Amino acid sequence: MPGWPGLPAVHAPRMRTALLACAAAILAAADPVYITAFRDPLHAMEAHRLVAAGAELQPVTISVAGAPDRQVAPIAVPLPGTTWVVQRALIDGLPAGAEVGLRFGDQPATRVRTVPDPAKLDRPLRVVNGGDTMHKPEWLAKTAKVMCAKDPDLIVLGGDLAYEDGRNGERVAVWIRTWAESAVAPDGRAIPFVSCIGNHEVQGHYNGTPEKAPFYFAMLPIGATPLHSVDVGDEISFILLDSGHVTKVAGKQTEWLHGELAARSKRPAVIPVYHYPAWPVVKVPKGGKDPSDNEISKQIRANWVPLFEAAGVRVALEHDQHTYKRTVPLKAGQPDPTGIIYLGDGAWGVDVRKVFPGLTWLAKGAEVRHGYLLEIARGGGIAVTAIDEDGTVFDQVSIAPR
Ligand SMILES: [Fe+2]
Repeated sequence: MPGWPGLPAVHAPRMRTALLACAAAILAAADPVYITAFRDPLHAMEAHRLVAAGAELQPVTISVAGAPDRQVAPIAVPLPGTTWVVQRALIDGLPAGAEVGLRFGDQPATRVRTVPDPAKLDRPLRVVNGGDTMHKPEWLAKTAKVMCAKDPDLIVLGGDLAYEDGRNGERVAVWIRTWAESAVAPDGRAIPFVSCIGNHEVQGHYNGTPEKAPFYFAMLPIGATPLHSVDVGDEISFILLDSGHVTKVAGKQTEWLHGELAARSKRPAVIPVYHYPAWPVVKVPKGGKDPSDNEISKQIRANWVPLFEAAGVRVALEHDQHTYKRTVPLKAGQPDPTGIIYLGDGAWGVDVRKVFPGLTWLAKGAEVRHGYLLEIARGGGIAVTAIDEDGTVFDQVSIAPR
């Protein structure tokens, strides 16, 4: 009997049967597909398929109920230095809240839902947040499954996804596979996500350039900058910032932030998202009295926080410290019921660290892997629920609209 092309002939029947079963399983296994929504989560999405280098670039078939199928041509983006390629299709012109089927070539279809229009929902929009996702793939998967059991409409990540440090692309491939398997809603659909950038996406961690974060810029459809505002309908926006990893905090980024906030001055829920916190709770710098003395934190408090406060921001999503934190509302550095609550601090799938004792502005701290569920009502009020990796609710707070 001739062998498979490229494989030696196998004559022992039992071994041949096993080999054929194995080959069939490989052929049947779908490539990992993940979905992002950086441009317009109600009406567009970006579909990504992780394939081995050299895989054929086939059209993506889009199926939406009530409309004829259509096809989109993907592009291929190599994960540099690896044998992996991300095939990417930008899909526009979708109805809000639509069930969409996406099929790369002859792959099984991935089911996705565009984010529903919050103005037309009879429930709050459900957004999941967390960062620092993968010291271990099993921790990434565990928290993802717990949070996706809440059936979110969108996931907003806070950077430090794969911990490849801009160098180890195989970790990015593992992240993609793990995410594709575990960030799945109860009905089996893939959930779209966006993310800001973290230090572990970048060679050298701080003061870098996009070239120092080759995998992050390859895996996400973010063009040449990590700075993006994601508008979810008419009332809700997430402002994805860079806490000094490939973009300086002060200067152009702060000017950009000023413009983005001004353009959204009528929106009741404008939520900044960035990796390194303005109000950190773990890492004390040399010579500092507590974690808030960190240089990046001081820059954020000097440059961004006054803009947040002037714009009436009521909650900011922070990460990086590998623990749980919720601050009291803060304005001009002091407790103030009309101030900003800072949520963090990045412990989705990492070893947790001890919270620094005695921080007067800390409402709650805990050494626990977790994610946040933000239920954002019409008018901008947010019910925040903190959920640990076992699915237990351990903290809740209400955020007022601005
Ligand atoms: Fe970090």
